[in-house]
Amino acid sequence: MPVLYSKRLRLRAPEREDVPLFLKWVNDPEVTENLEQVAAYNLLQEEAWFEKMSSGPRTEMPLVIEIHQQDSDVWIPIGNIGFADIHQINRSAEIGIMIGEKEYWDQGYGSEAMRRTCQYGFEELNLHRIYLRVFEGNNRGKRAYQKIGFVYEGTMREARYHRGRYWGVDFMSIIKTEWVQNP
Ligand SMILES: CC(C)(COP(=O)(O)OP(=O)(O)OC[C@H]1O[C@@H](n2cnc3c(N)ncnc32)[C@H](O)[C@@H]1OP(=O)(O)O)[C@@H](O)C(=O)NCCC(=O)NCCS
Repeated sequence: MPVLYSKRLRLRAPEREDVPLFLKWVNDPEVTENLEQVAAYNLLQEEAWFEKMSSGPRTEMPLVIEIHQQDSDVWIPIGNIGFADIHQINRSAEIGIMIGEKEYWDQGYGSEAMRRTCQYGFEELNLHRIYLRVFEGNNRGKRAYQKIGFVYEGTMREARYHRGRYWGVDFMSIIKTEWVQNP
């Protein structure tokens, strides 16, 4: 993916120097409460993930979400976002996002990053359908996705085991024709 800009954000390719920051995010229990994360990562494992991801399809490389620091040229990394499982025939892909810097939650950055990435998916990658999975209880996530037009499709019942019980996992999606009507 090229560098993408939106009103307040820059989305750029990750560099090796970002790995320690990613590690901080994926080991933060509040951040990972609603992510598929059942064990801690160490630096070696996170570096191995970076290597593997860097040699995979570039259209599936997660992008670092950055905000512009006021009155300077500095961009601050706050999370990452990317596509997975891009299907060449169905023109579908899963999208995933993590705002790892918690003080930036609830300020519209997650939905802005999703909106820009979906635009890229529909207008540059020629995707037809973008979908995501969101865990029962992640009402912040659901609200952020609804805001940009994602529609609830259904629930995989008791599909996640966490905190000693099973939780539902919702599917949400947006189709290109819906996007075009309300970009
Ligand atoms: C989920 C996530 C991507 C959302 O990004 P964000 O920047 O915090 O979201 P936004 O500010 O764009 O939107 C959040 C919305 O949810 C609302 N919200 C917050 N907590 C809520 C709750 N408990 N119930 C309902 N709505 C809630 C906010 O008020 C806001 O809606 P509004 O703009 O109408 O007021 C981000 O919080 C995150 O990465 N969390 C940790 C990892 C994660 O859960 N990733 C997603 C897995 S599917």
